[in-house]
Amino acid sequence: MMTIFSMLTIISSIMDDEAQSKKIKLLLAPMATLSHEALRRAIFRFGGCDEYYCEMIHASSLLAGGGFEKYYIMNGPESDKMVWQLTDTTDEPIIKAAKIVNDLGGIGVDINMGCPAPEIYRHGAGMAWMNKDLSETAKMLEKIEQILQNGTSSCKRLSVKCRLGEDDFTDEKFFSFIDMLVSSGVKQIVLHPRTRKQKYSRPARWSYVEKLCEYCAEKYPENKISVIGNGDVKDITSAKTALETAPDADGIMLARYAVQKPWLFAQIAHGSKLNEKLDLYEFCDQYLSDIRECQPKEFWKTRTQRFFVYYCDNFSFANYLKSKMLHAESHTEQLQILKEYLEKQTDEKIISL
Ligand SMILES: Cc1cc2nc3c(=O)[nH]c(=O)nc-3n(C[C@H](O)[C@H](O)[C@H](O)COP(=O)(O)O)c2cc1C
Repeated sequence: MMTIFSMLTIISSIMDDEAQSKKIKLLLAPMATLSHEALRRAIFRFGGCDEYYCEMIHASSLLAGGGFEKYYIMNGPESDKMVWQLTDTTDEPIIKAAKIVNDLGGIGVDINMGCPAPEIYRHGAGMAWMNKDLSETAKMLEKIEQILQNGTSSCKRLSVKCRLGEDDFTDEKFFSFIDMLVSSGVKQIVLHPRTRKQKYSRPARWSYVEKLCEYCAEKYPENKISVIGNGDVKDITSAKTALETAPDADGIMLARYAVQKPWLFAQIAHGSKLNEKLDLYEFCDQYLSDIRECQPKEFWKTRTQRFFVYYCDNFSFANYLKSKMLHAESHTEQLQILKEYLEKQTDEKIISL
């Protein structure tokens, strides 16, 4: 494995002089089935990131205390940088679950108001919160904020991750939602600047991240709202483009490409090649071993399949490999598939970071 890089501090060389003075945070996105401890360990081996959002935790399931819940609340390897994302259809379980995750420590609690997946949205969770009565949502957020402030742990910050709204969203509607968040105590807003129906086909609109930064700075100068942009950052160049479009953003959140390349945080932070070699087979072996340590046996297959959807994009014949991995029965078989592939594609085993 690679040596551990010193902790990320600033995205320096990719920024212009003015922006260089500002610390840009790098955050791991919440991703169901992916943002678990095994992925965080992988990122940590390259130096870590500033905040690790966990995969969304279904509040009612956490309260019911099912057998798998303990895996959702694992907090390694940097427990002080955890952000606990909660989701549900109504306020009551979310408020109660906030008390539980608050005791786990970390940076704070995030409420998922951006997930557009039909099975989540249809039931009134995720992005459905953007369309609910604002005063009701505000009441929920205020209660959570009180829990965080009165709790004894370090977990104090309330954040929300959201999208732009429906396809016919207006600035007026979007910013009334933002006003509600700020007046309810939300201190960090992560914007994935797409509408509900836009999946990944159209580019994320980073100009809206900048608009949000300007709005918050002007209207709420005292509140110091941290605005994080998210969407389509896949390498140093796209990180640079995102920050050129949204120079006032406080951070960049990475999702899919952090799974494909957990070393991406280090590359963006350093703003250049890392001058390191990485063995993609060894990396994979370690990752699967971490999955076995950090996930219940019942999840090994699905969690690993999901990982390979992204990790295989590091190879020329990605689709061929993805399909083989999908049908493999065990980690041993998956490693054998990768080994055989790399015996043929010898120049793809070691990459320069
Ligand atoms: C497999 C998968 C699961 C996701 N799960 C969540 C989730 O649990 N909560 C959430 O707020 N967003 C979730 N998202 C959305 C991501 O956090 C992120 O907003 C989106 O992928 C855009 O970022 P990217 O272009 O860096 O991938 C998920 C995305 C993917 C691909």
